[in-house]
Amino acid sequence: MINSKQIRWIEVNDYQEMSRQAASLFEQQLLRKPDSVLGLATGGTPIGFYEELVRKYKQGAFSFSEVKTFNLDEYVGLASNESTSYHNYMEENLFSQIDISPDNIHLPNGLAKDLLAECAHYEQLIQQNGGIDLQLLGIGVNGHIGFNEPGTSFQSATHIVTLAEETRIENSKYFHTKQEVPRYAITMGIETIMQAKQIVLLAFGEHKVASIKRIQQDGMSEDFPASCLKEHPNVTIIYGK
Ligand code: PGA
Repeated sequence: MINSKQIRWIEVNDYQEMSRQAASLFEQQLLRKPDSVLGLATGGTPIGFYEELVRKYKQGAFSFSEVKTFNLDEYVGLASNESTSYHNYMEENLFSQIDISPDNIHLPNGLAKDLLAECAHYEQLIQQNGGIDLQLLGIGVNGHIGFNEPGTSFQSATHIVTLAEETRIENSKYFHTKQEVPRYAITMGIETIMQAKQIVLLAFGEHKVASIKRIQQDGMSEDFPASCLKEHPNVTIIYGK
């Protein structure tokens, strides 16, 4: 049954407000449960959110000492210290600035010799840690969440993806040339994401308006991965342009 009423919509006037509102939801989560398992995302959208989270942390609002994190995805073939890897993004934007234990940080290993085993291991690790309490998401212009491109099964667990051409073009701004953008990635699956107890999706800018409208107005379809969120019991979408 489609029940988009379950999504809590927060429209904001500017990027700062989106970042603040999202950080405030994470703050509430960490105060409620200091040993939370957080699902994290990369990309341009959450940069301000991480800044805000670090700012609050530095003010003493909460600690990450008991927190565990699982990132949505990582490119295949990039070393974790390469500037364009999501490992590096997370290190720069969050981990190097907070008191999280390195043992509690998890991202898929895109350099694993056996990538299929790595996917199964990552999925298992999330379950072993009790599942994700609060998952942060961005959204691609084609509706992808994590790197789950259109057509991905709603029943998917962590898996290897071939990146859509539009995603490689979109992400080429972080690389010197489009050719450098990896062709494959490991991503949590749609089902992995849907198992999170709470989800916050952030979208900002004119180029995201159509994606947000599709969640609001259309039904659920694997052609538009983010539409799965209509079935989740605890989703907040913070958006603006
Ligand atoms: P962006 O990416 O935040 O860089 O727009 C979002 C996404 O592709 O999920």
